[in-house]
Amino acid sequence: MSDARVTVSTLAAMKGRGERIACLTCYDASFCRLLERAGVEVLLVGDSLGMVLQGRDTTIPVTLDQMVYHTACVARARERALVLGDLPFLSCATADRALASAGRLMQEGGAHMVKLEGGASFVKTVEALTGQGIPVCGHLGLLPQSVHRLGGYRYQGRDEGSAEAIRRDARALQDAGAGLLVLECVPAALALEISGSLSIPVIGIGSGNGCDGQVLVLHDMLGLNPGKAPRFSKDFLAGCRGVLDALTAYVQEVKSGAFPGPAQTPY
Ligand code: KIV
Repeated sequence: MSDARVTVSTLAAMKGRGERIACLTCYDASFCRLLERAGVEVLLVGDSLGMVLQGRDTTIPVTLDQMVYHTACVARARERALVLGDLPFLSCATADRALASAGRLMQEGGAHMVKLEGGASFVKTVEALTGQGIPVCGHLGLLPQSVHRLGGYRYQGRDEGSAEAIRRDARALQDAGAGLLVLECVPAALALEISGSLSIPVIGIGSGNGCDGQVLVLHDMLGLNPGKAPRFSKDFLAGCRGVLDALTAYVQEVKSGAFPGPAQTPY
């Protein structure tokens, strides 16, 4: 990665050049430094911290205060990468609430962009945020904050009806001003199609290697979550000499398109 700071425009230019974007979750300053050294462009302070740091079953109990705290821990150490802060459960239930929550993630946490889970029903919220100069990343497919409505952590978009809904939601978020989209656990063919049809970069997780970039939960890809890592993840520390080597291997495999391979692409 060059010394220049990564911005939303950097990510858009990378998509234009066909250069894949490497993203990982990050929750503290020490890992921030290592991830940057490995060449990760986007540090996602994900509400997955509820599971991997707090030992919870879902992301639902994670609070805005906790997200602000961890975002600030990362942002303090950050030199170049873009810090993407997750809006936790119900913190964007209305456009006004989303503005207040995103304001805290940016002003107190130092986030450069905020992520929210959901599609067309968030169009007004995305418009309100981007209208105030707040860059927004959408999140479609498997929505961990909606796990109880979805009936579990299941692949989405496997039938034509739900695939079409994800296509429509993706377009609606882009049209509302979103600058980035995470597609979680959708079939690889659908993710490839959506990435090709949108002008904004699409970051996949469990969605095949046809997206414009990849993200994984840090603890899963370092083998720190034995028995709990999803099947689309990979233990990059196994066979490496240390954490920095594992992170560098991840970045290289994302950039080359080697990760995710067939073994990490169940659909
Ligand atoms: O919270 C998180 O880590 C996420 C990723 C799973 C994309 O949203």
